[in-house]
Formats: sequence, structure tokens, C-alpha cells
Amino acid sequence: MKDIFDECRFGEFDLKSRVIRTGGWERDSEDGGFIKSSVFDRYENIAKSGVGLIVSEMFALDPKDRFYPYCANMNYKGFIKDYKQVTNLSHHFEMPILGQLAFFFYDDGVNQKAEPNDLTIEGIRKLQAEVVMAAKKFSYAGFDGIQINMAHNFYLARFINPYFNQRTDEYGGSTENRLRIVVEIIKLIKKMVGCHVSFRINAVDGRKGGMTLDESYKIAKILAENGADSIQITARTISFKFGEDGDHAFLSYADNLAKELDIPLILGGTLRDMKTMNEILNKTDIEFLSLAKPFVAQQDFLLEWKENGEGVSRCKGCNNCYGKKESRCFQFG
Ligand SMILES: Cc1cc2nc3c(=O)[nH]c(=O)nc-3n(C[C@H](O)[C@H](O)[C@H](O)COP(=O)(O)O)c2cc1C
Ligand code: SF4
Repeated sequence: MKDIFDECRFGEFDLKSRVIRTGGWERDSEDGGFIKSSVFDRYENIAKSGVGLIVSEMFALDPKDRFYPYCANMNYKGFIKDYKQVTNLSHHFEMPILGQLAFFFYDDGVNQKAEPNDLTIEGIRKLQAEVVMAAKKFSYAGFDGIQINMAHNFYLARFINPYFNQRTDEYGGSTENRLRIVVEIIKLIKKMVGCHVSFRINAVDGRKGGMTLDESYKIAKILAENGADSIQITARTISFKFGEDGDHAFLSYADNLAKELDIPLILGGTLRDMKTMNEILNKTDIEFLSLAKPFVAQQDFLLEWKENGEGVSRCKGCNNCYGKKESRCFQFG
């Protein structure tokens, strides 16, 4: 029998549980970027609670990016010092932590909002170099790896999506061609940084002519074959429905993928109670489950779940934390 609190392996890491904390908005910083003590407190409470792995809230590449005002910043003088404390704190509780990179716009040096179709080869090389630099910075700051957010509507999600990418060169057309930009990034990070490289991908896009379940399945396999170390499944909110049987929308998709991949696969979204999570673990080959809002509603809820052998998140699903771009619960403070 599997249990969310099993100690287990996740690639090269030992985890204290199968629960992954994902997402958050980190706007608690002083002018100039230095993070406030509330951020350290949040990390400490989550790290102490029995979570297995933390994926940080997203870091954007460029100050002009759409989400930059709400997310953590890696472009200030104190970044390495600040986040070294955050990663030390995680490691003190024997918990690995990945830094998430997500950007909505891409500035290729000519156009601040260069669309995937317009990105020149020089622009592609610039983008790849900046992602590798981000992985290096994460590594200097003590993160155990990078998670590249290639999901939701972020730039790389659009670049690999046939709805947005109509390029006619070797970076467009077939699935393999659209993924080339990312496969090259994996190889560069592996060679130049050598850290864990995780991806967050959409199971499905929801747009007519967009990414289908079959194609994202193929993408997950290509990523794994080319050196990705873990994959986290999600979707744009609009396409995030429950299956007809009331199960998680991507349960059978993720189960089939977990059976085929030889790297860890994380399923997340809408998971709120320990009973359902353990049922998923035991009726499928899925081994890792991620949660976001439950950690916003209560940073240390896992302590209670572990002690009681059961539990339901107090998150009411109002979505205010997401809508207002804060890691603060608007129901429970
Ligand atoms: C306050 C908040 C901030 C989020 N920030 C991020 C983020 O930085 N990166 C990311 O990949 N997802 C982010 N998400 C999305 C979550 O990771 C997750 O996919 C979504 O909330 C569904 O999972 P849940 O039902 O467990 O909350 C955020 C969600 C919330 C509520
Ligand atoms: S603000 Fe709403 S959605 Fe966010 S954690 Fe609180 S109850 Fe859940």
C-alpha cells in the first residue's frame, strides 16, 4: 500500500513524503528585491510540515514580464545570499527544492514581446542562454535544480504548441521540431550546470488546433528520452475539468504516462483530501502528487494530516489568492 507520507526516491533525491508543494506568488520583498522575513517563515513552516519536495514560486526572466511584479525576482544583488538562506532552510529539513522559471513574454533584444513565430535564430540562442544562466543562478543559490514552466500560457508552452507555432524552420512543424528549443536547453543545462531539470507541462491545451492529450503524452516521452529528470502535469485553468466519473481530469492520462516513463511524474491540481490522494496512489502507478492552494490556506496542514491519518484542506476554492496574485489566504488570513 502506498501512502502520501511514504519516504521515497524522486530521481536522485530522497523525499520524506510523496507530497510536492507547488506554486505561490512571492511579492514580499523590499525595494530592490530583498525578501522579507515572512518569506523565510513561509518556507520554514512548509518545510517542517512533512512535504517531500518544494517547487518554488516562479521566477521570471525580465522585469518587463507580465507576472514580474508578482513573482520572485532573481535579478537583484542579494539574490544568491537571500535564496541561499531559503535553500539552506529547506536542506536543514532534508528537503530538496527546485527553482521554477516561468516567463510570459520574451524580449529577443529587438522586440520586447517577440512571438514564437517571430523569434529569430539569434533570439532562440539568446533565450536558451538566458535559461541556462537562470539554472546556474539557481544552482549558485543552492537550489537542487530548475523546473522550467512550459505549461499554462507561458512562453515556452506557446512555443511548443501548434496553435501558436507556425514556424517553417527546424523549430516549427512536427512535435520534435517545436520541442527542439527545449531539448537543446536540457542538453546545455546538463553540460554546463549538471542539475536536476524538471518540466511543468499542460496535459491538454483546450484550444481548437492546440495541444492534444496525445501530443502532450508524446512530448513528455521526448523530454524524458532527452534527459529531463521529472515532469509535472497540469493544464490551463480553462481546460481543468473533472473526468465524467468524478476522478481527477488527467488521472488515466497520468497513470499511463507514469507506467511508461522511467523518471518521476507528478500529478497535481484540485487535490484536497488525504483519502482521495491515497486512493490515487494505490489505484494507479502515479507516485507523486502536488498541491498549491492547500498550502496557501494553511502552511503546515500536513502535520495534522500525518498525526490524524486523514485530513481535508480548509481551502474553500474561492481563488482569491490566485486572482489577487498573493500567497495569502483571503478566507483564513
Ligand atoms: C497563489 C497561487 C500562486 C501560484 N503560483 C504559481 C507559480 O508560481 N508557478 C506555477 O507553476 N503555478 C502556480 N500556481 C498554480 C498552482 O501551481 C496549481 O497549478 C494550481 O493552483 C492548481 O493546483 P491546486 O488545486 O493544488 O491549487 C499558483 C497558484 C496559486 C493559487
Ligand atoms: S484564498 Fe480561497 S482559494 Fe486561496 S487558499 Fe484561501 S480559500 Fe483557498
